Amino acid sequence: MNAFGRRIRGGEPAIPAAIPGAGAVMPFNESTAKQCLEANGQEHVLRFWDVLAQSQRAALLAQIEGIDFPLMNRLIDEWVRNKPPPETFEKIEPVPLIPVADIARQDAKAAFDAGEEALRAGRVGLFLVAGGQGTRLGFSGPKGAYPIGPVSRKSLFEFHAEKIHNLQKRYECALPWYIMVSEANDAATRAFFQEHEFFGLAEQNVRFLQQRMVPCVDEQGRFILESPGKLAMNPNGHGGCIPAIIENDVNTDARGRGVDMLSYFQVDNWAAKVADPFFIGYHVLRNAEMSSKNHRKNHPREAVGVHCICDGEYRVIEYTALDIYPQLLETDEDGKVVYDAGNPAIHILAVGFVERVYANYDKFPWWRAHKKIPYVDDAGDLIEPDSANGYKFETFVFDALRFINHEPVALAIERAGEYTPIKRFDGDNSVVGAWKSMNQYWAGWLEAAGCPVPRDGEGEVPVNIEISPQFALTQDEFIEKAKDLEWPDVGNIALAADGAFIGQSG
Ligand code: UD1
Repeated sequence: MNAFGRRIRGGEPAIPAAIPGAGAVMPFNESTAKQCLEANGQEHVLRFWDVLAQSQRAALLAQIEGIDFPLMNRLIDEWVRNKPPPETFEKIEPVPLIPVADIARQDAKAAFDAGEEALRAGRVGLFLVAGGQGTRLGFSGPKGAYPIGPVSRKSLFEFHAEKIHNLQKRYECALPWYIMVSEANDAATRAFFQEHEFFGLAEQNVRFLQQRMVPCVDEQGRFILESPGKLAMNPNGHGGCIPAIIENDVNTDARGRGVDMLSYFQVDNWAAKVADPFFIGYHVLRNAEMSSKNHRKNHPREAVGVHCICDGEYRVIEYTALDIYPQLLETDEDGKVVYDAGNPAIHILAVGFVERVYANYDKFPWWRAHKKIPYVDDAGDLIEPDSANGYKFETFVFDALRFINHEPVALAIERAGEYTPIKRFDGDNSVVGAWKSMNQYWAGWLEAAGCPVPRDGEGEVPVNIEISPQFALTQDEFIEKAKDLEWPDVGNIALAADGAFIGQSG
C-alpha cells in the first residue's frame, strides 16, 4: 500500500462512465466486468475466464477495474483509428536561455540568495521519477538500485540520498523526498530503501507514490493479453506524475509541510544537482510555475528532447520527432547546433501549478509508441512478435509547459557534474560514460585542493574517482573540507561522507 492511500479523481471511473445508466457504486465482479468490457468493445479480454484460477480472476478483475475506459476510448480513436498527422508549426524558435549561473554575475548571485532562502524556509520538496522499467540498462532491479559508484558500488538512490543529507545539514531544513514508482518496481524499491535503512534519512520524509498503468492495444485498438489472465500494461509515462501527485495527496502533504515547489529529477541522472539553489532562486524570483534546466546539445541528433518555442508556446520536442521538424537539426556556420537547448529532464514544478494542470488533465497530451508487445494467441500460447504489433500510450512531464500562465525559467547548465544519464552500460549516455565524466569532474576538485591525480597523455583520468555528495556538493565546499585531509596515493579512490578514503589501490 502506498503511504497516502490512493484516490482517483471522479471515484471509480470505469463503471459509471462505461455502463449507460450506472451511477451507484456497485461491486466489481465478473458480471460488471463483462458488461463494462462489452460496452467498450473489449470483451475478448475474458476469453480465458473459465480456465483461470480464482487468484488469476481476482487479479484480472483488479486490472479491468483500474482502467479509465473513457480515456482509452479517446486514445484509441485519436491514435489508432485516426492516426493523426504530426503537428505542424509556422515558426519554431530556440528557447532563450539564462546563461549558466555564475555567482560573479549579479542576477546569478541574487538567484542563489533567493534559492538559499527558500531552502532554509523549507519551501522545497524533491520529486524523483523512478517508475521506468530500465530495460535498456539490462538491470533487473529498480534502476535506482543500480550500483553506480565505481569504487564504493553505492546505488543511484544512495547518491541522491547523500545529496539530500548535505543540503539538509547546510540549510537546517527537512527536504521531503517523493519518489514515483510503478507497479513493476514499487515493492522492490520500498524493500531496497528498508534494507538500506533509508540511507539514514528520516523515514517520514521519504514517500513513495505509484503512477498509474495503461493497457497496451493492438493495431485494431483491442487490449492485449500477455497471459490468459493478465492484460499487457505499461506505466503512464513520467507525465503520470501529475495525476500521481494529486491522487496520492502529495500536494496536500507538501503544503502541510510548507513546501510550495518540487525539484523534479530523473533517477538515471547520477549527477543531477537536486534542489540547486541557483535554479530554485531563478524560479522564485521570476515567479515561475515551471522551470527547466537545459544543456547544450553535442550534435544535432543527440538523443535528448529539444526545448523550444513553437508558434509562441513553450515545448520540448522529443528526439524521436527530429525528422518531422528538420530545422531542429540545423547547425550554424561554425557547425554549432542552432536549436541547442537539450532537455536533461530537470525541472521545478510549483505545487499550485501541478494542481491546476491536474484540473485540466483531460487536455494533457498523450503520445503513442509503436512497439513489439508479447501476447497470447487463442490457444493461450505466448507469442513474441518479430515486429511492432501494437501501441503503448504515455505522457511526458514537459508537456505541462503548455499549461503555464507565466514565462518559464529556462536555465543553461554545463553537463559536467550535472548531467550523466545512464540509459545503457556502454556507449552514449551509459554507465561507462558517466564514470568517465565524473572521474574528470571530481579529478578537477582533487587537483584544486592540492591532491595530484594521474592523467594520461590526453589528459584523461585513468583511475576511478568518487566523492560522496554528503561530504561535498561543490568544488568550493570540497576545498574547504579537504583542508584537513591527508592525501593517499591516488589510485581508484572514493571519499566517503565522513571524509574517510575507501578503496584506493595505489
Ligand atoms: C528522457 C526524455 C528526454 C530527455 C532525456 C534525458 C522522455 C520521453 N524523454 O528520454 O526528453 O532528454 O530523458 O535523459 O522521457 N519514467 C517514469 N515513469 C514512466 C516512464 C519513465 O518514472 O512511465 C522515468 C524513468 O524512470 C527515468 C525517466 O523517467 O528516470 C526517463 O525515462 P526514459 O525512458 O529513460 O527517457 P528517455 O527516452 O531516455
